[in-house]
Amino acid sequence: MGIKRFSVVVAITLLALVHVSVSVPFIVLHGIQADCSYDSFNGNFTELLRNLSGSPGSCVEVGNGILDSWIMPLTKQVEIVCEKVKNMEELRQGYNIVGRSQGNLVARGLIEFCDDGPPVYNYISLAGPHAGICSIPWCTYGKWCNEVNTLIEKGLYTDFVQDHLAPSGYYKIPSDIPKYLESAKYLPILNNEKPNQRNSTYKDRFTSLNNLVLVMFQNDSAIIPKESSWFGVFPDGTNPNDTSPPPLLSAQQTPLYIEDWIGLKTLDVAGKVQFVSVPGQHVEMATPDIIKYVVPLLQNKPSSVQRLNRKTKEPLRP
Ligand SMILES: *[C@@H]1O[C@H](CO)[C@@H](O)[C@H](O)[C@H]1NC(C)=O
Ligand SMILES: *[C@@H]1O[C@H](CO)[C@@H](O)[C@H](O)[C@H]1NC(C)=O
Ligand SMILES: *[C@@H]1O[C@H](CO)[C@@H](O)[C@H](O)[C@H]1NC(C)=O
Ligand SMILES: *[C@@H]1O[C@H](CO)[C@@H](O)[C@H](O)[C@H]1NC(C)=O
Ligand SMILES: *[C@@H]1O[C@H](CO)[C@@H](O)[C@H](O)[C@H]1NC(C)=O
Repeated sequence: MGIKRFSVVVAITLLALVHVSVSVPFIVLHGIQADCSYDSFNGNFTELLRNLSGSPGSCVEVGNGILDSWIMPLTKQVEIVCEKVKNMEELRQGYNIVGRSQGNLVARGLIEFCDDGPPVYNYISLAGPHAGICSIPWCTYGKWCNEVNTLIEKGLYTDFVQDHLAPSGYYKIPSDIPKYLESAKYLPILNNEKPNQRNSTYKDRFTSLNNLVLVMFQNDSAIIPKESSWFGVFPDGTNPNDTSPPPLLSAQQTPLYIEDWIGLKTLDVAGKVQFVSVPGQHVEMATPDIIKYVVPLLQNKPSSVQRLNRKTKEPLRP
């Protein structure tokens, strides 16, 4: 190859790198009892992330915010966010997601279910109830709780409750798994748990993430068990009234992982999953931890938008 030709190749390579270094935008999906203008902890969280990362980002609202975070079924919430994201010009080339609490189930629905959506590169989950919740003590937020508890007493897995209370879609009572698989309308589908209805498209889409960060909060008393943030669960059949429940299954001990229903194992084996444990209550993340675990994945680090060598599928190292 002549010097001239070589310089052209170098120039093109450099241009490609410049292109890669354009900041990837992020979106934030808030949790329950929250909306985009206010999040009960970390104040203006989206703005904080923009400030810390220098990347553009916005919070995507679902319906009217706080009320809909409670009463709109998650399937519907995902449809809304999917449409919004497809209409956001700035996300066309791909984007990163930061989810908070219940917003993580919307985030994962967006990744798995959204047909023709732009690609998602990095997904950072803060206190996401990925393997469900099996208890109600978290409802301490105020006036909603009486209504929530009344609804749940009426029958968690009835159509009425499933259609009118967002969290009912991810209640997984381990003593009643058959009922859960049959009647819960959201999590069994999201987690590809229904034996004869696993959809490989959901798995393919989730597996295409570059990085997945699962943050669990050590003092989380809102998500029972808190290890659900790492896809950990009580074994099927556990009675939630049991004063000494059996040991939890770690993500790696669950059929979801072992049989790789959604691609978590594939991602983990490829070194793309970080299981992070931080001090604090539910989604109360200290700024140094945000800087350590969230911010780098929102910045244009080579590892966050990995370019693969077309032949060897090995990451290119600029
Ligand atoms: C959050 O930031 C946005 C945009 O900077 C601003 O419009 C909004 O008022 C802020 N909200 C709070 C609660 O500070
Ligand atoms: C972000 O930075 C701006 C400008 O320095 C500052 O006014 C604002 O308070 C910061 N917001 C947060 C949430 O840190
Ligand atoms: C799986 O999901 C994709 C994407 O939503 C859908 O197009 C396809 O029909 C589904 N497959 C089955 C067997 O349900
Ligand atoms: C747990 O205790 C409650 C209240 O005593 C009872 O209604 C419920 O049936 C118990 N659950 C199981 C699985 O035994
Ligand atoms: C977490 O809980 C432990 C034990 O209850 C307590 O000592 C600690 O201060 C709590 N930490 C935070 C950050 O809330």
